[in-house]
Amino acid sequence: MTAMEDALRLESVSKTFGDQVKVAALDRVSLGLPYGTFTAVMGPSGSGKSTLLNCASGLERRTAGRILIGGQELDTSDETAATRFRRGRIGFVFQAFNLLPTLTVWQNVLLPARIAGTSVDKRRARALLDRIGLGDRLEHRPAELSGGQQQRVAIARAIVNRPALLFADEPTGALDSARAAEVLMLLGESVREFGQTVVMVTHDPVAAAYADRVLFLADGRIVDEMRAPRATGVAARMAEFGAASRLTAKAA
Ligand SMILES: Nc1ncnc2c1ncn2[C@@H]1O[C@H](COP(=O)(O)OP(=O)(O)OP(=O)(O)O)[C@@H](O)[C@H]1O
Ligand SMILES: [Mg+2]
Repeated sequence: MTAMEDALRLESVSKTFGDQVKVAALDRVSLGLPYGTFTAVMGPSGSGKSTLLNCASGLERRTAGRILIGGQELDTSDETAATRFRRGRIGFVFQAFNLLPTLTVWQNVLLPARIAGTSVDKRRARALLDRIGLGDRLEHRPAELSGGQQQRVAIARAIVNRPALLFADEPTGALDSARAAEVLMLLGESVREFGQTVVMVTHDPVAAAYADRVLFLADGRIVDEMRAPRATGVAARMAEFGAASRLTAKAA
């Protein structure tokens, strides 16, 4: 497989925090994600999941290694150029939704394009909001919506301009299981119907089972992976990691 075939490619990417005491949040991570795939990232708290997404999307600067997006290297040395590069290619969904409270649903969805000074396909934005059941909520503000509805607005905002790559950091972390299922189905559809490539951090084996592949992180490294995951298998694997790290801690 060549690099051109991957929507996202990491080559030995490391991220170290701190000057005196160094924390290796990512330790030589390499991976390739083909177009149109849905990948879940799991692992204990502090294992580097958010750092992986932040570095891969260029929100944070890596310490070492190469990141290729659609075969093109992500260069974070020039912030303006990096922002321009990300624009239209990358969408990001945060656990805390990050909607602007004073703007309506419609304004929130159109905001990134307005900031970027690019045009939005308003028909597509409208159709997307209809699809996710918010077509009659365009003039509502985030506070007037449930958590699941707010997260769907955040996802609509992230995918309206069809970025090839969508990163989502615990997008269902704050939702109950019914609302989480709505959000996960929307992500799955954006992969199957729009050919988007999705990378999602989650702690929930049920959420991970919506993905095609699960990557398991521990101490900043990919330590395992699972294809065509099922929730029970993912939960069992997570329990093994928990037991293994407790054994290591005892031995230390
Ligand atoms: N800005 C920062 N400054 C210093 N250390 C950081 C910073 N961000 C993350 N770290 C450290 O890097 C490591 C990985 O953090 P990260 O946030 O990626 O973990 P995570 O897997 O997303 O955890 P969680 O499941 O709790 O969200 C941790 O040891 C964390 O303390
Ligand atoms: Mg995190």
